[in-house]
Amino acid sequence: MKRIRKAIFPVAGLGTRFLPATKAMPKEMLTVVDRPVIQHVVDEARAAGIEHFIFVTGRNKGVIEDHFDKQFELEATLERRGKTKELKELQKDLPSAGHSSFTRQQEPLGLGHAVWCARDIVGNEPFALLLPDMLHHGPSCLAGMMDVYNETGGNVVAVNEVPKEQVHQYGIVGVGKRKGNGFKVTSMVEKPKAEEAPSNYSISGRYILQPEIFDLLSEQQAGAGGEIQLTDSMLTLAKSQEFFGYEFQGRIFDCGSKIGFLTANIVYGLERPDLAPELLAEIARANG
Ligand code: G1P
Repeated sequence: MKRIRKAIFPVAGLGTRFLPATKAMPKEMLTVVDRPVIQHVVDEARAAGIEHFIFVTGRNKGVIEDHFDKQFELEATLERRGKTKELKELQKDLPSAGHSSFTRQQEPLGLGHAVWCARDIVGNEPFALLLPDMLHHGPSCLAGMMDVYNETGGNVVAVNEVPKEQVHQYGIVGVGKRKGNGFKVTSMVEKPKAEEAPSNYSISGRYILQPEIFDLLSEQQAGAGGEIQLTDSMLTLAKSQEFFGYEFQGRIFDCGSKIGFLTANIVYGLERPDLAPELLAEIARANG
């Protein structure tokens, strides 16, 4: 079985749900406590053994590339001031030279199109895909998916249960027989009406996909919302390859929404021993 070495991060989205914060700043650079959302997601991928980080960006996203580069002046200043701990932390977050790639989506044609834009960089090997809006809290979700993949091969999607009234916001899977840590996906549909959904298990924004998806994406017509949908190509791929679901046990925060983002800040903040006592006291105060 081929090892998963590369991960795609689609970061071209405009962040219209978070205006005006995202007018000049990419939504992926909003911070949950003191790390940009995209850094949390890169951390998750690295914890799962990913070696090469591929960012599909767009106009106005240059700062993401800067974030994953050396900041010479800053590092020299930290060094001079003896701030070795801070310096080490910064260096730890950085992909090593040659292990990150950036390409532009050019036009907002949908998630399927964004993934397809990375086809040359990925090449002919299976890869991971992580949607940065969706923060998976707890042990690395992608690492759990790798365990399923190592048992089953094929394609793996992370899923979690959502209330029935929310199924129209997600890709939804049909749940089949359990195998190892996962289950067989029997169907997939992008943003179905509640009464047409095969279950209430939503695709939570983490995927392990085989490279054959790229050929299907290149022929994919626009689907739900007039966009080239990844789920539609996955459905075609499922005719010739297996798909497995991995049920993520932790909490998921949609950091593209204001409430998801604010809650993530509180939950991640309360986990930090250096912040938790004061934060709790402030929350109690705010509650009157
Ligand atoms: C995308 C996928 C959808 C998935 C969702 C998770 O939708 O198309 O299948 O459930 O991400 O966040 P989007 O949120 O881009 O509309």
